[in-house]
Amino acid sequence: MTPNIILTTSLIGILLAFWWKRFKSQANTYWGSPLPPGPSPLPLIGNVFDMPNNYPWKVYAKWAKTYGDVVHLQVLGKHIIVLHSLDASRDLLDGRSSIYQDREVTEIVKLTGWDWNLAMMRYGQEWREHRRLIHQYMNQRAVHTYIPHVRDGTRHLLQRLHRDPKDYVYHVRYSIAEIALSMTYGIHAKDNDDHYVHLIASAIESVEQGLLPGSFWVDFMPALKHVPSWMPGAGWQKKVADWKGETDAVRKVPWENMLYPTHTQVNRQIPPIAAQMEERLSDLEDDACRRMHQTSQNTSAVIYAAAADTILSTLRTFILAMVLNPEAQKRAQRELDNVVGPGRLPDLSDFHSLPYTRALMKECMRWQQVVPLNFPRRCTSDNEYRGWLIPAGALVFQISWSILHDPETFPDPEDFRPECWLKDGVLNPDVLDPAAVIFGAGRRICPGRHFADIALSLSIARILHIFEITPILDADGTPKKPEVKMTSGLMSCVDSC
Ligand code: HEM
Repeated sequence: MTPNIILTTSLIGILLAFWWKRFKSQANTYWGSPLPPGPSPLPLIGNVFDMPNNYPWKVYAKWAKTYGDVVHLQVLGKHIIVLHSLDASRDLLDGRSSIYQDREVTEIVKLTGWDWNLAMMRYGQEWREHRRLIHQYMNQRAVHTYIPHVRDGTRHLLQRLHRDPKDYVYHVRYSIAEIALSMTYGIHAKDNDDHYVHLIASAIESVEQGLLPGSFWVDFMPALKHVPSWMPGAGWQKKVADWKGETDAVRKVPWENMLYPTHTQVNRQIPPIAAQMEERLSDLEDDACRRMHQTSQNTSAVIYAAAADTILSTLRTFILAMVLNPEAQKRAQRELDNVVGPGRLPDLSDFHSLPYTRALMKECMRWQQVVPLNFPRRCTSDNEYRGWLIPAGALVFQISWSILHDPETFPDPEDFRPECWLKDGVLNPDVLDPAAVIFGAGRRICPGRHFADIALSLSIARILHIFEITPILDADGTPKKPEVKMTSGLMSCVDSC
């Protein structure tokens, strides 16, 4: 080896050692305060290899045992803060609401065309306008307007399940989309083959598979979007382009085909949401009208898409739970028989006398969640929490799964135990209500939560009152016990049932 090579190699070694020391100290202290604890990052790439691909909420929950309820990760320079307790989530997402309400509009959100969706928008004027509009139609009082649509849709669901119980997933999907379509656009889904039902099902695939930050490398390396789709490894671009076509259609197609109330419609006194929004456009001047038209189209589509997907997921969890827990099912049915009796279907007014059925619904929400990691927030300025620095730009996840599977609050959290919400035969207000967790927090709390409560209550009570939910039989007639397997994206639902 020549002296030059020895000198150069030594210099590189010294520089690398110096850089590594600096990186390590920067990784642990930032503007004087340390970052929250977490798995050790590698130089430059950070925790890339620690990032879980499957069921991230379960991996994060394990880290919480080692590092505590606030965990820090860094991926290619991006800070990620993972919150595992309700205290931490309330302190930051509720308590510091001015700096924790933003979202990161990732490359994949833009490429899949979901950036018109209120849930994915940056915190600012555009978000405020959309949020104000959705609140007018989804607030606690307004949602009662849609009860007739839910009554009709759940009645149709019972008829379909009676005709063809094997295809129950399709029927539940169909009926929830039917309710969402009729209340939002006045459109009536055609029996058994409806374009709109398929449209929403395919568009939601991109939310389930693509929108979890880190699912696609392009989120961390935006330049990848310029790589031609024919190049090896760039096949994801075709998938993303297909998703974009479906996302655009969800926004435009039902809006263009909305119907005004007629004598055949469910709730003919009250026009569908989109028609009410359109009516108000006529009072506006050109620019304001154009802007409001866009906001109305986006908001209608988000109501239709969010309602169709989240309620379907929760109902699939409910069916799985009933197959696996026949005792809980029977107890709720006995309660329904006593309170409602044989001659009619349960209605919302029955619920004050149905504590066990209510507890069973809460347990479905706790046991498996539709959004186990919540939708990530983006922190907009450096701030200190419990002596740690939370850096501006960090993505902040509330891990609803950890909060609702904490054995301190819910002993044996993997078991399905509706009775944990009851004391002396009534709902126990001292037990953490899953609704306080699964719908998020702060100014971005789910605006559809009141409607979700109505739709889930009626669907669950009516299905339980009419049917016995049992396992599928295999070829020789033996009941097949289903596995508890959920999908692993931003939105999670039963994978097989
Ligand atoms: C079981 C049913 C549902 C669950 C579990 C659920 C859950 C969530 C969660 C976790 C968030 C994020 C909140 C946060 O950032 O803290 C959210 C936001 C949102 N949800 Fe829901 N949701 C449900 C039903 C609905 C329904 C029925 C609608 C519409 C009718 C809806 C519309 C929305 C919208 C528009 C946002 C975005 C709010 C914003 O970013 O300002 N959701 N939901």
